[in-house]
Amino acid sequence: MTFQVYVGMDLGSHKTAVMTSEGRRAFLPTVIGRPKDDLSRRLIKTDAVFGQAAIEGDHSLDLLRPLAHGRLKFHAPGAGDSKGVKDEATQRESLRLIVQHALGLVGVTTDVNAAVVIGAPALACLESKELLVEIAGRTCRSVMVVSEPFAVAYGMDQLSGTLVVDIGAGTTDICALTGIYPRPEHQVTLPIGGDAIDDIFTNLVLSQHPKAIVNRSMLCNLKERFGSVAENPPQADLTVVVDGRPQILNLTRQLHDACKSFVEPVFNGLKQCLSGWDSEMQGRLLRNVILAGGGSRMQGLDTALERLLREYYGSARVNPIHDSMFAGAAGALKLAMEARPEHWNAI
Ligand SMILES: Nc1ncnc2c1ncn2[C@@H]1O[C@H](COP(=O)(O)OP(=O)(O)OP(=O)(O)O)[C@@H](O)[C@H]1O
Ligand SMILES: [Mg+2]
Repeated sequence: MTFQVYVGMDLGSHKTAVMTSEGRRAFLPTVIGRPKDDLSRRLIKTDAVFGQAAIEGDHSLDLLRPLAHGRLKFHAPGAGDSKGVKDEATQRESLRLIVQHALGLVGVTTDVNAAVVIGAPALACLESKELLVEIAGRTCRSVMVVSEPFAVAYGMDQLSGTLVVDIGAGTTDICALTGIYPRPEHQVTLPIGGDAIDDIFTNLVLSQHPKAIVNRSMLCNLKERFGSVAENPPQADLTVVVDGRPQILNLTRQLHDACKSFVEPVFNGLKQCLSGWDSEMQGRLLRNVILAGGGSRMQGLDTALERLLREYYGSARVNPIHDSMFAGAAGALKLAMEARPEHWNAI
């Protein structure tokens, strides 16, 4: 089976990265904005705004992140109650529009004979994978869904003796690559990621500064600049309105506490993923632990995990990936270009 264009897509709850065999690439937040009322619709002149443009226009738009907090990834939310069903339909439609938009950004439309590989969480359920096949299948001729950390490892040619930890917004996916296709027991999906850190950070700030006018997105930006689990974290100052006027708050301690709360659960996930292997394979995996995903950019995370693993197992080597934005999409594209005919439309 040959196609005109091959596409790799990392469809994350926070961001979507897409690359094609023609060398085109795009990166956008996985968010859609709908006009809040008739006036904003007339001013914006469209029914849907995507990605960064949606975030920047958020005063006149209702924003929806259809994959936030693992929604649509693990199960069908709200099944059975009518409001849940309606919300789910909205989320699916929003996801469809975002996928279509992302493909359009790299020139992939229904007129092009395209094949796409999509990265999904390691343990996404069959229903969610089928949904992705159905959504992407409206634009692309052939669709394959693979686990996100597998796509990262494939792109790096690290398919044997590698432990990939993909730290996203909604989930952290850990996958042991041992020279065969990863099976469910080789993978762990933790329901925590950057969103969970943002939740903890926001709660700490609001409980300690109840009068501050501050929102989650401001705190997420601060985390992305100064988030650290190192012993001496950088100073994290934020200008916010308190009692009607701007003040500078030093949020270093709250941010450090929120980031540190993440280390232990990831370490436990790594132990879980390693527990089924003999000492020889454990040793090989521990020598090549790769941190991927946006969360891998948190300062000191590689050192902190390496220290815990060394204390527990004796030796370990943890390295963050170089290109956390496109590594998943690049791996998915490589898979698309090298896939055999029988793999297409398999999930
Ligand atoms: N420098 C940074 N320090 C800490 N966290 C960061 C940094 N840069 C990005 N992040 C966080 O990484 C997360 C996004 O990672 P990524 O882009 O891999 O997510 P995703 O693939 O969309 O999510 P998922 O895989 O869970 O669906 C966000 O929570 C973001 O705030
Ligand atoms: Mg991801």
